[in-house]
Amino acid sequence: MIEAALERRVVVCCGAGGVGKTTVSAAVALELARRGRRAAVVTIDPARRLADALGMAGLGDEPTEADGAALRAAGAPASGQLWALQLDAKATFDRLVARYAPDEEVRERILANRIYQHLSGAVAGSQEYMAVERLHELLEDGRFDHIVLDTPPAENALDFLDAPERMTRFVGGKALRVLTAPAEDSAWLGRRALAAGTSAVMAVLRRVTGAELLDDIAEFLSSFEGMYAGFAERAGEVRSLLTSDEAAFLVVAAPEEEPAAAAVELVRRLEEDGFPFAGIVLNRVHRLPPGAPRDVDDLARRLDALGAPRAPALAAAVLEALEDARAVAIRDLDLREGLAAAAGGPAAAVIPALEREPVDVAGLAEVAGALVSPSVSAKRGPIASLG
Ligand SMILES: Nc1ncnc2c1ncn2[C@@H]1O[C@H](COP(=O)(O)OP(=O)(O)O)[C@@H](O)[C@H]1O
Ligand SMILES: [Mg+2]
Repeated sequence: MIEAALERRVVVCCGAGGVGKTTVSAAVALELARRGRRAAVVTIDPARRLADALGMAGLGDEPTEADGAALRAAGAPASGQLWALQLDAKATFDRLVARYAPDEEVRERILANRIYQHLSGAVAGSQEYMAVERLHELLEDGRFDHIVLDTPPAENALDFLDAPERMTRFVGGKALRVLTAPAEDSAWLGRRALAAGTSAVMAVLRRVTGAELLDDIAEFLSSFEGMYAGFAERAGEVRSLLTSDEAAFLVVAAPEEEPAAAAVELVRRLEEDGFPFAGIVLNRVHRLPPGAPRDVDDLARRLDALGAPRAPALAAAVLEALEDARAVAIRDLDLREGLAAAAGGPAAAVIPALEREPVDVAGLAEVAGALVSPSVSAKRGPIASLG
């Protein structure tokens, strides 16, 4: 089920907060490395968990390779390579400016500009947009066969898909541009006349806003003038890759009402926007407890025979715990059916709720094992239609 997705150049893991996107992303990359591929997992998650889990202290913006010996020691030998990096939006933006600014002077002017500093650090969408730019860089890099992309929670995952458009709209947007009114907008006026007009507008605005702020906006926009096209072009390239059969989107879901509803919404949105949805990864599923004794007296007798103290009370407690576990597992099964109906097929993978959180390589290897386990019955999953 998951196999087709593992052949794709870019695997995107999305889903609601806390469902296991970061864990599944790392497990996918680990599995690819086990199969001899060179895989890089990119996290946008500011939590250090991924770095910690992979035993990579201080994961940064540059890809870091997991130590092969450490993977082997943790029982997850890899004949390929496992790389990881943590997105640093500001570093990515600075690199872009350095690379695409027409000359040194423009470059310095942009980097020192306060609007730029604000934009590159904090403006909504810039983080997601930079993920797109970073993805573009990594695809060009040539060191990786696969890039596995971890994403922020669902509401932001949708932002992530929209980010390229939003970014170009903002940077090239009318709201800001009216302040500098580029010549081509009203060529017939002539540049000089327009400049006079603009400065009149600016003069008024200066009184109500901070003068320096406006100067910064004007300078930022004129510095960026020649770079819009590049932004739009790269965003377009990433978008067409992400909507092609070189990409696969896995929707990670947990068998709880709200995350399940979020997953269904995400699947709908992916399909609507033409992103290749490759299946749901249902994480933290509680297994139906093995055929357990139901007769409390019988169990008490057997416990007693084993020398257990207070056997009747113990038997009652054990059966109650088993009953709870069974109820949770059945609830999970119900939600699974609901999800399958909404997503047009059964989950691509089902990962059990592990007793020990998968916070290290061994745990991730366990998740990876479940991810590719063929025991998942899936006759007509949506991945089949991906070809
Ligand atoms: N199958 C699982 N069994 C047990 N714990 C899990 C499992 N998958 C994830 N976790 C734990 O759940 C928490 C959230 O997982 P994480 O991957 O960080 O989610 P997200 O990136 O979607 O916010 C983490 O503490 C992680 O270790
Ligand atoms: Mg995460």
